[in-house]
Amino acid sequence: MSMHQVKIITQDGETVCFDCGEDEDIISAGLRQDIYLMTSCREGGCATCKGFCPEGDYEMGKVSVQALPPEEEEEGYVLLCRCYPTSNVEIEVPYTYDRISFSADELSFAAEITALRHVSCNVVELCLQRTGDDQQIRLDSGQYYDLEIPGAAISRSYSPANTANNQGKLEFLIRIVENGKFSGYLEHDAFIGQSIHVKGPSGIFGLKENGFTPRYFVAGGTGLAPVLSMVRRMHEWEEPQPCVIYFGVNTEEEVFYADELNRLKAEMPTLRVYICVWKAGENWHGEKGSVVDILRRDLQGMGVKPDLYLCGPPGMVDATYAVCAEIGIAKDKIYLEKFLPSL
Ligand code: FES
Repeated sequence: MSMHQVKIITQDGETVCFDCGEDEDIISAGLRQDIYLMTSCREGGCATCKGFCPEGDYEMGKVSVQALPPEEEEEGYVLLCRCYPTSNVEIEVPYTYDRISFSADELSFAAEITALRHVSCNVVELCLQRTGDDQQIRLDSGQYYDLEIPGAAISRSYSPANTANNQGKLEFLIRIVENGKFSGYLEHDAFIGQSIHVKGPSGIFGLKENGFTPRYFVAGGTGLAPVLSMVRRMHEWEEPQPCVIYFGVNTEEEVFYADELNRLKAEMPTLRVYICVWKAGENWHGEKGSVVDILRRDLQGMGVKPDLYLCGPPGMVDATYAVCAEIGIAKDKIYLEKFLPSL
């Protein structure tokens, strides 16, 4: 197999070099050599692995146009999980060297299940307590962890709703998917006190510093978890930006964490919350309709354009992205994380 050299250049000017085979994407080549670059979906759909290639040739595999719009691809931006070098390449990545890991062990720890309950018809809350002496939960709000099903070499990625802490606490909101392996485990085999293997954090979705610009968060279903983590962090740090959460679900039975959202709103004068139920019944007194339409209503005619954080199923994220573009929000002010279905 002919090999090419990949040189990764981080935001703080450090470099990491490794080999990449011609039919290998850059993320896989790094993993093969214990170099863990930022990734999330590994399917060309989320843009977590986006970089810029000033030097070298490559071929791009199939990617979502939201993750890598054609004009960016033209300029030389790449998604590393879908980038196949055909010569030596240099790639600039938008994060610092300390976000790259060089051993799977650095990121792994054991935890114990402390809470496991349905919070809606299709969402389970899973709380974990890290075990051992190190009780640090290192996390930039918006990142995710991989949770491994005990006794099976199967992991799934979930974003916690908590913030970084030194009490070893993690709180996940997990959608129950029909025939989903992790869903099946949660429904039938998980129990309080069980030990579970955790790896992470990973991903670059998270808050971006942009002065006093308002922050609008749009969450579909369990996309609420990383949004909660970010808003809770804003609360902890007493950040002054006005912020709004649009939380969308299909039916009233799917609403969860309404009390927590109300509690947060009561404690944060800068926060507004809209729970949007698409197929609402007569007794629903919150917003009725799709989160996309309700956001469009609120954005129309707004003077100051907010930063947008979108998180949820691809359909919702794509539709919301299109509305933001239609309203005139610059695409570099829209930060998104798609939850791709995984069985
Ligand atoms: S990890 Fe490459 S696009 Fe999601």
